[in-house]
Amino acid sequence: MNTINNEQDLDALRRHANAWAVIATWAKLGLFEALGDSEPVRAEDLPIHLDALRNTAPILAHLGLLIHHPQSDGGDAWALSPAAKCMVDDGLMHQDRALASFQDLGRLQPVFEQGGPVHDEKGHSRLTSGGVVTADKAKTIAFMDMLYRRSDESSASLASLLATRVTQGHALDLGGGHGRYGHELLSHGLTVTLFDRAECCDIAKARYGETIATIAGDFMVDDLGGPYQLIVLSNIVHGLSPEELDSLLPRLRKVLVPGGVIAIKDMFLDATMAQPEPAALFGLTMLMYTEAGRSYGLREMVNALGKAGFSNTEHIDFPEQRFSVIMGR
Ligand SMILES: C[S@@+](CC[C@H](N)C(=O)[O-])C[C@H]1O[C@@H](n2cnc3c(N)ncnc32)[C@H](O)[C@@H]1O
Repeated sequence: MNTINNEQDLDALRRHANAWAVIATWAKLGLFEALGDSEPVRAEDLPIHLDALRNTAPILAHLGLLIHHPQSDGGDAWALSPAAKCMVDDGLMHQDRALASFQDLGRLQPVFEQGGPVHDEKGHSRLTSGGVVTADKAKTIAFMDMLYRRSDESSASLASLLATRVTQGHALDLGGGHGRYGHELLSHGLTVTLFDRAECCDIAKARYGETIATIAGDFMVDDLGGPYQLIVLSNIVHGLSPEELDSLLPRLRKVLVPGGVIAIKDMFLDATMAQPEPAALFGLTMLMYTEAGRSYGLREMVNALGKAGFSNTEHIDFPEQRFSVIMGR
């Protein structure tokens, strides 16, 4: 993000927040889908108050999501841009989650005064376990679908990197969720067990069948299986407290063969605590939706591995894909 140096910079940031609020509300109201066909739709045929349409459609047009079609009778019609149409077709523009998250941001004050997680407008906690609310199956599936969609390149890059360190044997995909990270390892000659909550194991099995084994349970207390030549934690540690890490990492070391590799993929803050951007920003999400999650510093994570008995740590950065990996043996 741009640094803030003056009032204009602050104002630019506020405009970005406004634009995101408009996108989230249009998505929640199904307005992008109402424009889903290629034909322009007249303003009065859209399910939105005409004042709201008049004042928000130009924002979306400015962002390249809508195209204005003036009508011969002086009226207005709107159509999706080709890019917006693709995003609607991919199911990206009809989600409730964006508006709910935006509304959560309006309830930050008590979180800053008393700590997280954030509560909804009825006072219910919005706590998740690594993003998952197992009681809400539809939400869990939607969250896993989102993580799956976004892990196309990162799962392939991570598997290629790990295959240079571990050439055969059995891998544990801890908190593997949708299963894509584990599944990628199969093509590099490893066998894979995914450990996750029962609901997520079902999601991974529905996608990958019996090609990966699963163990359902709570990885903080339950038997982790093994032994393993490789243990992968992708997007797991940011959801855990330092105390939970200090309890989990030694247990992982016990199920890793001597010389085996633990790989922690996440977004780690550098020594400035200001970079990289995804790590700096993600801390807020963890404050709002986890008990004690955070963006860990690189040094902090290397120290945690050392405390658990791991050594020979390496750090590999994939800045274009917005993640990095810390490996230990
Ligand atoms: C943010 S998701 C990451 C999923 C996948 N590894 C990825 O990178 O896309 C966190 C996963 O960890 C699982 N998880 C969190 N805490 C857990 C626990 N105590 N026991 C088992 N699974 C847990 C969640 O169910 C979820 O699937």
